[in-house]
Amino acid sequence: MRIAVIGTGHVGLVTAATLASLDHDVVGVDSDARKIDALRNGSVPFFEPGLGELVDRTVASGNLSFTQSLDDAIPGREVVFICVGTPARATGEANLAAVERSVRDVARRLDAGALIVEKSTVPAGTARRLKGALLRERPDLEAGVAVASNPEFLREGRAVEDSLRPERILVGAEDEWAFERLRSLYAPLVAGGAKLIETDVATAELAKHASNAFLALKISYANALARLCEKAGADVLAVADVLGSDHRIGRAFLDAGLGYGGYCFPKDIQAFERLAARLGYPFPLLEEIARINDEAVGAVLEKVRDALWNVEGKRVALLGLSFKPETDDVRFAPALHLARRLIEEGAICSGYDPQAAENAAAEVPQLRIASTPYEAARDADCVVICTEWDELRSLDLAKLREVVATPVLVDGRNVFDYEPMRAAGFAYYPTGRPPLPAA
Ligand code: UGA
Repeated sequence: MRIAVIGTGHVGLVTAATLASLDHDVVGVDSDARKIDALRNGSVPFFEPGLGELVDRTVASGNLSFTQSLDDAIPGREVVFICVGTPARATGEANLAAVERSVRDVARRLDAGALIVEKSTVPAGTARRLKGALLRERPDLEAGVAVASNPEFLREGRAVEDSLRPERILVGAEDEWAFERLRSLYAPLVAGGAKLIETDVATAELAKHASNAFLALKISYANALARLCEKAGADVLAVADVLGSDHRIGRAFLDAGLGYGGYCFPKDIQAFERLAARLGYPFPLLEEIARINDEAVGAVLEKVRDALWNVEGKRVALLGLSFKPETDDVRFAPALHLARRLIEEGAICSGYDPQAAENAAAEVPQLRIASTPYEAARDADCVVICTEWDELRSLDLAKLREVVATPVLVDGRNVFDYEPMRAAGFAYYPTGRPPLPAA
């Protein structure tokens, strides 16, 4: 099938490469000339395990190409995916201006019989509006065009795996021919075990927000339990294991810590809350999820304050700066939120991350970036684990002990256990578990 993908960010590029690997003829389009140049020169503009290889392979096979020009990309395409960003407005609502602009730009060059598919996360009702905008641009297409919803469920850091072997593929459409086309597009993935779920468009749009909000709810639930455990002298890890061993609850996404970040959860929860309010069903549970998430950073900050007494002038090493492991993405990263608050209070912060150091430095220039965790921790009065990279899980604690000024470790992701900490001589402050005071 001949496909165009508009937007070559985390979702668009993975979608384009995945569809190309299924033997479709795919062109990736982006208005950012630097991105297109980089892609044409074989370099992926962000870190995502396995993506570089997949792009190389599909470009080499002739199935994937990139362009800045819609005039070149759109004519003759049977399916056009919209994967442009939907950032938050100051009000928290999703800003859909780029989505509308893309659809209008595409419409002017579209052939009759083409299917527009929104993959960007958008509020329920968006496809209906997009179809209106499209037909205003091209009234002649009235009977020959459809707008479907096909929300993306991939996770950064595992995007390639999630995209090539998805658990589910959600397709929302209003016309049988649109379903038919998407069925045939995804046939190889369904044959490989993916569950294809077909709904109307508004249901698909809403289900995407509902999924992300529910995952965030689980995290915030675990973080609220962590606060309670800290007060009760209980252990949140054991509590999460108890909850998780009930298959109706499940253990996933019950890890307490610094909370969620990234470009999806924080803005999607807000946008979902704004949508609910606009539809006349205020949904304060969503605000509460976000409030508890903010509190999670505050709780780690409180432990640092408690350990240091006066934060001003003290050295704090932050290990792991991306919003989660296996990505260089620092958008809404809790680690950077913590760094800013510590710096505001006068701390001297250093940081280390296996992939995200450069992006973190651009966001928080006062953060002293180190090239190893031990260098970041040199002369530190307190070390904080912010992201659970495997490299950090396997830190040599004896070596860490040698370089720090004071052996205090605040574990914002519960990556360590008591015994190794005791053996290395650290005062240890985990999350939602009793602390191990200085010997
Ligand atoms: C999330 C969803 O998991 C994807 O299904 C969805 O497609 C994507 O958003 C999106 O809407 O595009 P992602 O943001 O890549 O994916 O990352 P997750 O793995 O979901 O993690 C989100 C955040 O939650 C991270 O900051 C992570 O550290 C945090 N988290 C996760 C916890 O604090 N505790 C947990 O138990 C699990």
